[in-house]
Amino acid sequence: MKTIDELLHEGVEGKRVFVRADLNVPLDGTTITDDGRIRAVVPTVEALARAGARVVVASHLGRPKGAPDPAFSLAPAATRLGELLGAEVAFATDTVGESATATVAGLADGQVAVIENLRFNAGETSKDDAERGAFADALASLADLYVGDGFGAVHRKHASVFDLPARLPHAAGYLIATEVGVLKKLTEDVQRPYAVVLGGSKVSDKLGVIDHLLERADRILIGGGMAYTFLKAQGHEVGSSLLQEDQIPAVLEYLKRAEDKGVEFVLPVDVVVSAQFPDLKSKAPTEHRTVPADAMPAGFMGLDNGPETDKLYASKLADAATVFWNGPMGVFEHPDYAEGTKAVAQALVDSPAFTVVGGGDSAAAVRTLGFDENAFGHISTGGGASLEYLEGKKLPGLVALED
Ligand code: 3PG
Repeated sequence: MKTIDELLHEGVEGKRVFVRADLNVPLDGTTITDDGRIRAVVPTVEALARAGARVVVASHLGRPKGAPDPAFSLAPAATRLGELLGAEVAFATDTVGESATATVAGLADGQVAVIENLRFNAGETSKDDAERGAFADALASLADLYVGDGFGAVHRKHASVFDLPARLPHAAGYLIATEVGVLKKLTEDVQRPYAVVLGGSKVSDKLGVIDHLLERADRILIGGGMAYTFLKAQGHEVGSSLLQEDQIPAVLEYLKRAEDKGVEFVLPVDVVVSAQFPDLKSKAPTEHRTVPADAMPAGFMGLDNGPETDKLYASKLADAATVFWNGPMGVFEHPDYAEGTKAVAQALVDSPAFTVVGGGDSAAAVRTLGFDENAFGHISTGGGASLEYLEGKKLPGLVALED
């Protein structure tokens, strides 16, 4: 994989460089609630601009349906990128139309532009190779060189991620190099004990990674909505908690395999329950209580780990040499159900282990709950991407940069 440093060494002055970033940040209206992904691409954009490139930054945001939708405009992200760079950033209001062509043509050496959300064009995510290829051709006409730095999207076989690098000389940006370096440490020469904390709502999203981790991890701690399918599989009632009944056979098989392989599987021993899901907008206080995980009352849903579980999980992480964490332990967006996620974050901060927070919601949780990012070994910008990497899958956006 060619690095951006090699590209810079060859010279980029006056060249139009297409940077595929992942600026898919959480928005509240037009307010960015976590700019981590924008900050993560700044070193690459800055280095290219400093070397005199005309930098064209592109990304998706959310999941618009292949046509322009103002709710998913990248304009707020472009403004934020400009603030972080301390420079004017031009914004094209389309992807490959008149605005993009004129905006890119108007760039001077060292200047930066952002083009509108790539998913406003159906070709970006199309399953049809020809349709994706046609969009990639149009994108290729905007640039001379390609830098892949949208780690969060490398698991997507999309035009700007997979097809475009085949059409332009390409290299990996600093973010992708860092992310891949960290994930290699978790797959190739992991320091033991290796503990993994998995949370989030759906077991079905995590099956592949659990399968992989059963061969590699020493300890797997489960939390979040997915824990209730595990508790149910163990024969406990889970009230009105999130449950994926159809996943119970898979979960039982994993529990059995873990036992056979001597992998410690740790489940919540107590949980915080409520009769209703909290209002995440008003964050109004709720009625809730803590109950043992094996005695959840009917009609109540589990929304967070309880304090005994917090202590148990902290003790299971204290002596680890490596920790990977993906997925919140509860509905951390509401203060009544944030303690479990905070407790895991704190355990990682307190641990001398090499700690990796695996993107998506857990990365946002760490930042919005006020933790210092520097207290973690690495906070990945890729949720799905880091999980698929750990599953051992070939990721289209990395494959495309390899040849
Ligand atoms: C993410 O948020 O995980 C990435 O930006 C990819 O987004 P997607 O799941 O909509 O493809």
